[in-house]
Amino acid sequence: MFRTTIEPFRIHSVEPLRLTTPEYRAAAIRDAGYNVFGLRAADVLIDLLTDSGTGAMSRDQWAAIQHGDESYAGSPSWFVFLEAVKELFPFAHVIPTHQGRAAERILFAAIGGPGKVVPNNTHFDTTRANVEYTGAEAVDLVIREGLDPAVEHPFKGNMDVEALDRLIADRGAENIPAVMVTITNNSGGGQPVSLENLRAVRAVCDRHGVPLYLDACRFAENAWFIREREPGQGNRDVADIVRELASLADGMTISAKKDPLANIGGWLATNDDELAERCRALLVLTEGFPTYGGLAGRDLEAIAQGLKEAVSHDYLRYRIRSTAYLGDGVERAGIPIVKPVGGHAVYIDARALLPHVPPLRYPGQAVVVALYEAGGVRGCEIGTVMFGRRPDGTEVPAAMDLVRLAVPRRTYTQSHIDYVIEVCALVAGRATELTGFRIVDEPAQLRHFTARFEPAP
Ligand SMILES: Cc1ncc(COP(=O)(O)O)c(C=O)c1O
Repeated sequence: MFRTTIEPFRIHSVEPLRLTTPEYRAAAIRDAGYNVFGLRAADVLIDLLTDSGTGAMSRDQWAAIQHGDESYAGSPSWFVFLEAVKELFPFAHVIPTHQGRAAERILFAAIGGPGKVVPNNTHFDTTRANVEYTGAEAVDLVIREGLDPAVEHPFKGNMDVEALDRLIADRGAENIPAVMVTITNNSGGGQPVSLENLRAVRAVCDRHGVPLYLDACRFAENAWFIREREPGQGNRDVADIVRELASLADGMTISAKKDPLANIGGWLATNDDELAERCRALLVLTEGFPTYGGLAGRDLEAIAQGLKEAVSHDYLRYRIRSTAYLGDGVERAGIPIVKPVGGHAVYIDARALLPHVPPLRYPGQAVVVALYEAGGVRGCEIGTVMFGRRPDGTEVPAAMDLVRLAVPRRTYTQSHIDYVIEVCALVAGRATELTGFRIVDEPAQLRHFTARFEPAP
């Protein structure tokens, strides 16, 4: 009836934003080695670095925090958390962790190792790093459409099921400890996976006797896309779709900093009793006792309440529409983006925007730095800086050079987003003048977090 999709909440507590000048920002980013991870957050005006742990909690989550019980073992908060998790993901074992990568580290420490191969639609950076750290190989098998930013497809996160079947046959099922499917596919543009595709992946896994795990960080956004786009799903409750997604898997890893609307947390879940026992032993070594993992009782309460809010249709309608609103505006500003717009972020196609900057001069990094200098907007390179370094030390261009503008949940208003669109238009107007970068210092793993750069005209 109305054109405007409003925020289904009003603001109860505010945080100040600090305005800075282009000169100030040019000096700040230079001092940070041209790496936006090195900036002070107070020097950022609109922070779209990540949607991870950066969302606004609700009144009811803050109230739930007051119920936090900090008993070391068997806290009531653990049971509140467990019940909320199992309501959506009824796996036999739930193992709480301080965030998603801790769940990944425990899972792959238990099932990875040299000679093993882990297929995924697209591994997220921490997932890939945790697989490779054990000596195993991480293989990305997203459908062809998922690698072309300009191609429209309702489920660009889908796994290439035939390629998966071939890989398992070639490498031997005994060497595939698990197949992972990331919903939504963050590194591939926040694109969803269809129920039909997940069912087909399940069938391949069953045929080969290989378990299937979800990287379910954005399960609710993925389920909303299924409701909106998949034939026959339009009348379903999102919570019901989530339960069906879970029923197709043998377990999951998740970061509660995404769709569960918390600032910290995660978990690993599995139906495999023997694996759960080994994972709990690893959990106790570095995270904590199995009824709190790496979390305080109050965090468990915040996650439990967040899970209830995450599957609200009013919230998801607003969430997906507000991300699309940013995407529509960025595209109107003359910037090529991954189409269709994903759930949690808009992905700029930096390779297409800066065709004069070769991938090994990091066009994504050039766009990230330009957005910050122009308007104090912090995005994140998802391309050759993040994925270009191979475990053998060589460097190759990533499949795509993207810049992710991730939208924190329930945090920015429409005028903040209109401002970001104006900054994008300014950068688009300067595109031909932007130059690439070279890396002057980098760590062996996950280099994008701490590498230092210099301009490479
Ligand atoms: C798809 C995906 N998997 C795993 C992770 C890791 O989660 P965390 O940052 O909580 O360690 C992330 C975080 O961004 C993610 O997007």
